[in-house]
Amino acid sequence: NDPGVPIGKTVVLAEPRSFCAGVRRAIGIVEAALERFGPPIYVRNQIVHNHHVVRALEQRDVHFVSSTEEVPRGAVCVLSAHGVSPAVREAAAARDLRVIDATCPLVSKVHQQVIRAARDDRTVLLVGHMEHEEVEGTYGEAPDRTIVVSTVDEVRQLDLPEDTPVTYVTQTTLSIDDTREIVDAIADRFTDMTGPGTDDICYASQNRQNAVKALAQRTDVVLIVGSENSSNTVRMVEVAQQAGVRSYLVPDVEDLDESWLHGATSVGVSAGASAPEFLVEQLLDRLAELGLDRLEVEVTGSEADITFGLPSAVGGTEPVAD
Ligand code: F3S
Repeated sequence: NDPGVPIGKTVVLAEPRSFCAGVRRAIGIVEAALERFGPPIYVRNQIVHNHHVVRALEQRDVHFVSSTEEVPRGAVCVLSAHGVSPAVREAAAARDLRVIDATCPLVSKVHQQVIRAARDDRTVLLVGHMEHEEVEGTYGEAPDRTIVVSTVDEVRQLDLPEDTPVTYVTQTTLSIDDTREIVDAIADRFTDMTGPGTDDICYASQNRQNAVKALAQRTDVVLIVGSENSSNTVRMVEVAQQAGVRSYLVPDVEDLDESWLHGATSVGVSAGASAPEFLVEQLLDRLAELGLDRLEVEVTGSEADITFGLPSAVGGTEPVAD
């Protein structure tokens, strides 16, 4: 550093941030499928909820479709990280599609829990939001036995006897904090409740939210990189706001409004689980241009040891999910 240059204001970067293991694997699967089968490749729904990722793949002749009906017969079709219902798999089979499943293994675990609970004649309470595509897929495993609950009141108003055997599962992109009150309400309401084991829970959202809370302790403004349609990313903004700091979603570096930084001597930066790291780097470059050129990292946990292998359908060592 040139000693003549005044020390700038600080950016504090959260760790962990950005892609979770399931998102990294899903993108890796599409890239491996492109290499192995060549374009065009079809992907049902956005592979992950980030328009940069989607656009970059579209430029490589990857087509995103909302239904398997849009995929030409016999073509390669990747199912997104959020998982699908059995009905979607049947529709894909009926069109002879070469299906490659990019469902996150932790979402697949939730599907298995639903299947098992339904087989044991238990009622499944799926904590999440019906409009989220992950919930649509999970619900589809046992629609006759599953009820989606998204608020404590909905749990209280369930028209079920208190001794109904219930199993709860949660939308993986919600954190443990997000679902705690609802799960507590289920435990209060029912005498026979089971839920996922601690090893079966996805901690990616919780870890990112914990890191955002730590940022909020140390900074005046928190910027969260990610897309508006990513629920875990939007939630990170809310978590920072609830922790008492100004917080903004930054889908693109051009979306940064300099007025947000007025009066701030330190700015926190993180990114949702579907946001690529290069967007974070672009934002850091821009902040440095604005005089926020001292970088510190707030480490609240590490996910470096969490990786998921690729399915054998694209040359990986993991068995193909059926
Ligand atoms: Fe999987 Fe959790 Fe990411 S379920 S896709 S690792 S948010």
